[in-house]
Amino acid sequence: MSNYHIKHLEEYWQVYRKSVSHPEHFWEEVAEEHFLWRKRWDKVLEWDFNTPIVKWFQGAQLNITENCLDRHLTTRGDKTALLFEPNDPKEAAQHITYKELHKRVCQFANLLKSQGIRKGDRVCIYLPMIPELPIAMLACARIGAVHSMVFAGFSATALATRINDCDCKMVICSDGSYRGAKTLDLKSIVDEALEECEIASVLVVKRTGNDVQMKSGRDHWIAPLLENISGECPVEIMEAEDPLFILYTSGSTGKPKGMLHTTAGYMVYTAYTFKNVFQYRENDIYWCTADIGWITGHSYIVYGPLCNGATSVMFEGVPSYPNFGRFWDIVDKHKVNQFYTAPTVIRALAKENVSHVTSHDLSSLKVLGTVGEPINEEAWHWYNENVGKKKSPIADTWFQTETGGIMISPIPYSTPTIPTFATLPLPGVQLALMDDNGKEIQGNQVEGKLCIKFPWPSMARTIYGDHNRYRETYFSAYDNMYFTGDGALRDAVGYYRITGRVDDVIIVSGHNLGTAPIEDAINEHPAVAESAIVGYPHDIKGNALYGYVTLKETGADRNQDNLRKEINDLITSRIGPIAKLEVIQFTDGLPKTRSGKIMRRILRKIAHKESDQLGDISTLLNPEVVESVIKGSLA
Ligand code: WT7
Repeated sequence: MSNYHIKHLEEYWQVYRKSVSHPEHFWEEVAEEHFLWRKRWDKVLEWDFNTPIVKWFQGAQLNITENCLDRHLTTRGDKTALLFEPNDPKEAAQHITYKELHKRVCQFANLLKSQGIRKGDRVCIYLPMIPELPIAMLACARIGAVHSMVFAGFSATALATRINDCDCKMVICSDGSYRGAKTLDLKSIVDEALEECEIASVLVVKRTGNDVQMKSGRDHWIAPLLENISGECPVEIMEAEDPLFILYTSGSTGKPKGMLHTTAGYMVYTAYTFKNVFQYRENDIYWCTADIGWITGHSYIVYGPLCNGATSVMFEGVPSYPNFGRFWDIVDKHKVNQFYTAPTVIRALAKENVSHVTSHDLSSLKVLGTVGEPINEEAWHWYNENVGKKKSPIADTWFQTETGGIMISPIPYSTPTIPTFATLPLPGVQLALMDDNGKEIQGNQVEGKLCIKFPWPSMARTIYGDHNRYRETYFSAYDNMYFTGDGALRDAVGYYRITGRVDDVIIVSGHNLGTAPIEDAINEHPAVAESAIVGYPHDIKGNALYGYVTLKETGADRNQDNLRKEINDLITSRIGPIAKLEVIQFTDGLPKTRSGKIMRRILRKIAHKESDQLGDISTLLNPEVVESVIKGSLA
């Protein structure tokens, strides 16, 4: 039996039991089976959740790009590594082989070195979904630089905050990006952000050809610099726990958290989970529709698939362009075998005429996946019937930026699936449900706060520059446990269903948004006294944002629609369009506790049209406000 590729349920349970009874031995076997190590580890694991400190495979030396690229050159050199499908269906797809990808990564790595980038330096990548994005990432990893990717939908302010937080030396961006019929001007966003940052060099990929300002001495077009540059670049030998990348996620304060991931554990875990969750076989064509700017793209477009020598599709465009059949057109055209997307996309496509799906041959599909938020029953059935034709199992995969890789998921063709259940923990993942008294809830048919009680190789090791916040956020709610921020239930057979966030994070269209940074943005408006954001159910986005805004006396008679627009413009400029409010209700005041804390629970009930279930509000500081908020409700 091989631990590395699980093929039936009995095998899953055997591997799972082994992984729990002897975790170190289990991960050691996985690490031995598949990877290229420059030096073997001395110690599999050292950990203490109180400090917290977690170190995997100490003493080992490796380079992740050697595992993603060099290792495949003799056996898979001419196999397609990245299959790039452009935004415009008339533009030819690009099949980038392992040989070619290796060469382009080496050239890019040499370019970074020539610009003074060294091991340990942070490099910000702000690129759309074009081949240069994974190439830049891998080039950083090859020379030991730490990439910090910022999704190219974030605003200039958000970008500047992230560049400064981890002290990036360089920014890699493009002139613009294509999104369906639109062209976005990315370089001018970077220029605006850099007014707040000290950055010596900016490398610019030409994609759209739109007019951009190039600041002399600072900004360089990439293409001419790559001419005549060597396609060989020796790897930097990395220690197991050397940083690989930083990726920001929102939190309960205005400041985003730079989750730091390290090298060996992340590689082993993402490669292992990719193989098992997607049941990838040689010559399969695998497609994950996420943006590489999110953790899903890092782990399951780039590192996990390439470590397995897979063919990974990357798509530049959007599901609605040139029409709502685009995804199925791509599946048909490239004969995609594994397809991985988000529930919000499924819901949006399910609203359109089903002929967009049925007019394409989807018979190549073997495995379907979803990620990012709970998938509702209706969307699950639509996906199962129309896309999978009831023959492709759906892997509802639960994970987080912090976990690095998938933690809960069925093993397709092994684990029987049930709609809305992410089902079982993957081998090595030890879950716990906790009650409000801090006790673990035993047995089945129970519900609680989802925690993880043993380290796994791809967990984030810290929040960049703020280890204290890392401990406070994840390890202080429960003794000796990693707290996920999610609620979950365990059914009669032990399957898990994620019930949603139990903290101040709201998942909108699969994007993790903290209420605090959005409220900070709103409160910057001169007419605003204070504000509170809650989530409410939305049929495509899963959740949408409902904002309660109290105006200062002086601004009270201003035109409310104009104000709404100004507030949303402010949010767009501070965070990005993904954080815009669906509904804005102007209020006379917000319900507060006697200590002055806004009672979001009450506001949430009102936005959910459950104002008849508020319970006792007499202990509030200002119970009279509640009635007027209910009266003005736009829910
Ligand atoms: C949060 C993490 C991990 C990929 C993208 C999101 C929610 C994620 C599921 C799922 C129910 C899910 C959780 C989690 N989530 N996958 N299959 N079922 N909820 O990464 O931005 O770090 O968000 O997304 O609430 O905590 P992220």
